[in-house]
Amino acid sequence: MAVERTLSILKPDATRRNLTGRINAVLEGAGLRIVAQKRLRLTTAAAEAFYEVHRERGFFRDLVTFMTSGPVVVQVLEGEGAVARNREVMGATNPANAAPGTIRREFAESIEANSVHGSDSAENAAREISFFFPEIEIVG
Ligand code: CMP
Repeated sequence: MAVERTLSILKPDATRRNLTGRINAVLEGAGLRIVAQKRLRLTTAAAEAFYEVHRERGFFRDLVTFMTSGPVVVQVLEGEGAVARNREVMGATNPANAAPGTIRREFAESIEANSVHGSDSAENAAREISFFFPEIEIVG
């Protein structure tokens, strides 16, 4: 399988509970390398643009409010099949359905406050990575 990059976000529920290090340890333990990382607070405009594909969904406004409610850590993960690998280790969107040992099963509070985001395809990964990181900030 090819080496890929994917975008990961540690969400406000995770930074609020000081879980950055513990979640990063799970990601690294899964064979993913953090090749870029920064902590920031999303503005409403940035959260709306990032989640543009969900604009018509009923949960869109709540999602934007939640994602701007505190700091996030955005990161680029690199590894063999990184997009799928990261989604495996994150677990299902709803923590109630997430498998044991996954980040969402261990740490998520709800379907909204579900601790992590990960790109769902290589195509979206490229778009999402460039949303936050110029190439010079990604160091493999
Ligand atoms: P994420 O991978 O960041 O992409 C969209 C987010 O919307 C998703 O994770 C969830 O945290 C959030 N969300 C909130 N409510 C729902 C819902 N009912 N169905 C799917 N996603 C939801």
